[in-house]
Amino acid sequence: MSLLKIVYYPAEVLTTRAEDVAHVDGTIARFMDDMAETMYHSHGVGLAAPLVNFSRRILTMDVDPESNTDSLLRIANPEIVEKHGEIVWEEGCLSFPGITAEVVRSAEVLVKGIDREGEEISFEASGLGAVCLQHEIDHLDGINFVDHLRGLKRRLVMREYAKALKELQVLADRPSV
Ligand code: CO
Repeated sequence: MSLLKIVYYPAEVLTTRAEDVAHVDGTIARFMDDMAETMYHSHGVGLAAPLVNFSRRILTMDVDPESNTDSLLRIANPEIVEKHGEIVWEEGCLSFPGITAEVVRSAEVLVKGIDREGEEISFEASGLGAVCLQHEIDHLDGINFVDHLRGLKRRLVMREYAKALKELQVLADRPSV
């Protein structure tokens, strides 16, 4: 397995609709494993393929990484088939380092897709799981969490992000000793 590089907004891949996966073959399965490793390494609960610069409809998620049971999901072509209720969550994003913002989502979702073995699956999620699935599936449609913010709130968050990104750039440019 290997770690993949996470791209930061405004990388073009993050505002592009990702393509369906035609077949979950060995290459895609290994890519899912690399995504999972990258997600755990970055302390993320979810990761969508565009964040690692691959414009395909794939996501990984683990909202309970400390649990003894295997709670890792690796899904291709995920689709929300039902959603209910409303939940507000303070979201962050691996492609938007340094900022968080409250987003309104559905509280429960029913999702279908294709697992790592190429089998069709469907499952329900609520709370953080529901939030994460909606956040990651948005990424597959080129939608970012800040796109759910409007007006002044959005302008403030984007200004904060520009500052955070600049700071990261300064750190990256600094020669290491
Ligand atoms: Co994200």
